[in-house]
Order: sequence, then structure tokens, then C-alpha cells
Amino acid sequence: MIDKIKNLLDEVQSWQASKLEEVEALRIEFLSKKGKITQLFDEFKQVSPELKREVGKQLNQLKDLAQNRINELRAQNEQIAEAANKDDVSKPGVSLDLGGRHPLSIVKNDIINIFARLGFTVADGPEVEDDWHVFTALNFPPEHPARDMQDTFFINNNPDIVLRTHTSSVQVRVMEKYRPPIRSIFPGRVFRNEAISARAHCIFHQVEGLYVAENVSFADLKQTLIYFAKEMFGPDTQIRLRPSYFPFTEPSAEMDVSCSLCGGKGCGVCKGTGWLEILGCGMVDPAVLEANKIDSKKYSGFAFGMGVERIAMLRYQVKDIRLFFENDVRFLSQFERAL
Ligand code: DAH
Repeated sequence: MIDKIKNLLDEVQSWQASKLEEVEALRIEFLSKKGKITQLFDEFKQVSPELKREVGKQLNQLKDLAQNRINELRAQNEQIAEAANKDDVSKPGVSLDLGGRHPLSIVKNDIINIFARLGFTVADGPEVEDDWHVFTALNFPPEHPARDMQDTFFINNNPDIVLRTHTSSVQVRVMEKYRPPIRSIFPGRVFRNEAISARAHCIFHQVEGLYVAENVSFADLKQTLIYFAKEMFGPDTQIRLRPSYFPFTEPSAEMDVSCSLCGGKGCGVCKGTGWLEILGCGMVDPAVLEANKIDSKKYSGFAFGMGVERIAMLRYQVKDIRLFFENDVRFLSQFERAL
């Protein structure tokens, strides 16, 4: 028995391992239930009582030494494995997640690009505006309901300073700064004092368009909008203009596009009508040109305004406008495109 212990002691001391698997093999060979050292403990039962004390001590020393060697070899090999992993240049790299564009930015950029192809430039104006640019210069009469507290956010209860309720205010900013010909679109954020629901939000986005030059006609407006609709919703898209009213355009119209989902047959999205309302438009009211010191005898123009959320909801079949503002990555990551 003493000899066996001594031999095993020598063996344990000469253990080497260059892989974690080899360390594990040594552990199984010597220390598992049927391992060489474990088996000695069975044999120990037969050792004569006078020797038990000495043999027991040596046996325990052997076991401890073996266990320590295993731990040592395991730690060594773990370090080696880790270092090898670090330097393995053939390993696949860690890819960095790229962010994606927000769906509203994707749609806004598409709108900008479509109109850019027709020669429209992009202009911007302030979100905190005065009454003149949002209402008065756009021919809103003093008692018009849009000026009401119910619709408009006022700043510091000052009736003259508001959060713009539409991007039409940028029409005025542009007309006071530039002389015709003007051919521009104005994307931006607008604010309305509305209850938030699946269909309405107090903050949303619009793209406004303005074209002022000599001899601009309703036919020009219609052709521009047909081009936009087909580029935006596909070449088979039809448009329909319905007479409407806006203080700053005369005549005014609302434009519907044929429902791209059912092709105009009628479905849940278009509520069975085959048409979807997309924007408001019209010929710039001569009073608006004059308010901006543009000679309405010489120049005419058209204007239009559309909601970006509405177009994004139709294009991506988003049923709740609030999703655009919650910044939930589970929603946003569905729209990712390579940047
Ligand atoms: N400003 C209107 C709105 O917010 C949209 C609009 C309608 C803009 C007709 C226009 C237009 O330029 O001609 O509802």
C-alpha cells in the first residue's frame, strides 16, 4: 500500500497538461469514483490497525496533492485558452449594431427627394412662432376657430406667441425673404392642443410645399401632385381632388390617393372607399401674396401640406401614431436601413 501511494505520488508530481481536456482526463483517471486514488481508499479498509494512522495520513496527503495539481493545471490551461482566444485573428469579429433611421425620417427624406427631383429646395422656420406667420399673414380671420385655445398652444399665455400649428407658417417666412420664383418645401414639427389617441398626437410632422412664379396654374399643381403620388405610393396610384376650404388657398382641395393596399377595391385600411386622404392643397390666395408684398397680378402660386405620420402609417401599416414617439427599439428596429 505504501509503495502504491509512493508511486502515485511520483506520478502526480510529473503530471503535465497542455489542454483543459487533458486536465479533465487526469482528474477522471485518478480522482473520480473509480479513479486510482479513490480506489486506494477502498483498499485502506484492509490495512492493519497499527499502520492505519500512517497510511491514512499519506493517503490524504496524496489526495490533497492530486487535487491541488488538478486545480493548478486547470487554472494554467484556462489562462492559455483565454490568451489564445484573444489573439485568434481568424475568429469572426464582433459586429457593432448600427442604428437605423426613424420611420418618420425615412418618409420625410423620401418626400424631400421626390420634390428635389422637381427642383424644390428645402427651407425651415421656427417652431415657436408669432400670430402673424401662423395665422394673420395666411388670411385667417381674427375669429377663426384654429386660433382658439383648444387647438393652439400659446407661450406664457401671450396671445401673440404660439407653437406653430402647421408648417404653412414657413410659407410666410420664405415669401418675406425671397422674391419669386419660389419653389420650396418645408418639413417640420407642428403642435396642436389635441387629446392623444391612436390617431392623433399633440406633436406631429408636416411637409409644406410652395411654388410661386408667373403663370402658375391649377394644372401645374395637379401634375406635381400626381408625380408625387406615383413616386411615393407606386406607378399605378391614382389621385382624386375634392373641393375643400383653407383660408390661405383659393380654390382649395383635399387630395386622396387610391388605396395601395387593395388597389382601390376597398379594404379595412381605406374603410371600403378605395381612397386615402393624403394632403390639403390649393392656389395661394392673392391676399396671402399681397400680405407678403408679392404682386398678385403678376404672380400666382400653389401650396400643399401633408402629414408625415399619416403617410408613414399608411406605408408601414402602423395602426397607432403613438408608436412613433415612444422610441421602443422593438418598433424602431423594424424600419432599419443601412445608413
Ligand atoms: N396647413 C394645413 C393643415 O395643417 C394643410 C394645408 C392645406 C397646407 C392646404 C397647404 C394647403 O399649403 O394649401 O391642415
